[in-house]
Amino acid sequence: MDESEKRISPQNFPSKLTFYVAICWFLAAFGGLMFGYDIGISGGVTAMDDFQIKFFPKVYEKKLHAKENNYCKYDDQYLQLFTSSLYLAALVFSFLASKACDKFGRKPTILIASVFFLCGAALSASAMNVAMLIVGRILLGVGVGFGNEAVPLFLSEIAPVNHRGAVNILFQLFVTIGILFANLVNFAVSKVHPYGWRISLAVAGAPAAGLFIGSLVISETPTSLVERNKLEQGHKTLKKIRGVDNVDAEFNQIRAACEAAKRAKAPFKELMKKSSFPPLIIGISLQIFQQMTGINAIMFYAPVLFQTVGFKNDGSLLSAVITGVVNVVSTVVSVVAVDKLGRKALLLEACVQMFISQVAIGIILHLDLPATGSLTKMEAGAVVFLVCFFVMGFAWSWGPLGWLIPSETFPVETRAAGFAFAVSSNMFFTFVVAQAFLSMMCHMQAYIFFFFAGWIFVMGLFVVFLLPETKGVPIDAMAERVWKKHPVWKKFMD
Ligand code: BGC
Repeated sequence: MDESEKRISPQNFPSKLTFYVAICWFLAAFGGLMFGYDIGISGGVTAMDDFQIKFFPKVYEKKLHAKENNYCKYDDQYLQLFTSSLYLAALVFSFLASKACDKFGRKPTILIASVFFLCGAALSASAMNVAMLIVGRILLGVGVGFGNEAVPLFLSEIAPVNHRGAVNILFQLFVTIGILFANLVNFAVSKVHPYGWRISLAVAGAPAAGLFIGSLVISETPTSLVERNKLEQGHKTLKKIRGVDNVDAEFNQIRAACEAAKRAKAPFKELMKKSSFPPLIIGISLQIFQQMTGINAIMFYAPVLFQTVGFKNDGSLLSAVITGVVNVVSTVVSVVAVDKLGRKALLLEACVQMFISQVAIGIILHLDLPATGSLTKMEAGAVVFLVCFFVMGFAWSWGPLGWLIPSETFPVETRAAGFAFAVSSNMFFTFVVAQAFLSMMCHMQAYIFFFFAGWIFVMGLFVVFLLPETKGVPIDAMAERVWKKHPVWKKFMD
């Protein structure tokens, strides 16, 4: 072990699991829940008759004549904008959020996120027209932009160093719980006429309020305080969160990291250097691939998709609840498996599983669901099963690892900037899928599933040839132990 590794070695940093850290887990729960709730709520709401009649009467009309075309029932740009606008706002504001995090700290940034969440929930739940609805979604998106940048950063900075990976995946776990919670709320209110959808959108206020209260209770992270030259306060906070007096080793490491980050005056410029390409290309590609699996076609539009294959309103919402449960449980598997089996094994296994599911769904729909007609009960059941099989594979691999790997492969000088690129690539492609999926389904019909399968095949090749294993490698030893040894990436590292 060389000197620098010894300095950063987690074993050198004494810590206890303190009450303060427990409060912070709680806060994480609300940040993750909030994002997950926004992901999960729109599909069910979109599929509710009362909602369609009020805002999208043309879609409702088309649905009544669904016998004319199964695949095009919901092909409407405004309807898709209801879901996608959130991600466009998040994309823009995640860059602003990274600046706010640096300049004002994590705590105020989280507070800003929660205020936007509260306003967005209030506006969308009380919307009287499409414009109010979409502005409400945009406000929620601004919240997501601030929250998704600040909360994971906050968490990784207060977590004891040797728990950082697990904390990262736990954030994702809360996202999946948020999605499930949204599916359950949609299912519960679907019989409440004509305002069930308002309840669904208003309940988003609950995790938002939790995050708001949380952001008042917590104190700033030591890293953020040191970054802004509040050294004494940073040292005091570190003692408080670690629950021990001897925090000098960790404090010195935080100072060194902050100084290194300051020396790299223009992190975005630094990122454009050849030697930054490997983590940058990997981070951005993983995020793009994560979205091109088609996961959000399912997370956003599962109820719509299940209606397309012939379920009634109830059945489709219930099926969405089932996929939500599978999503949560499989993410738990990932928390346990990721440091035992390694990143590559999980990603590759999931590619096979997701490829089989997409191709099988495509075949069933292609053979048995023509534009006018319906699947048998058994076939529709098989589609639900295959969707669950797909979600299972995603949730123990590409879901959490798409976020974990970019957070552990950048050196400290470019970490925040590099991660911001990864987050915004994710938001952009989430936006694209949300905006395009229903139209693509209308035009491509069952072939849309082969389209996603094609992407999954390419992702598998990417993992085999270009993704190095990063399990167990200390973050600051990445260059020496990973990039410089990889047959392709070493060419960038002289
Ligand atoms: C993805 C989200 C997705 C979620 C599903 C996350 O990793 O980034 O887009 O909706 O997983 O659980």
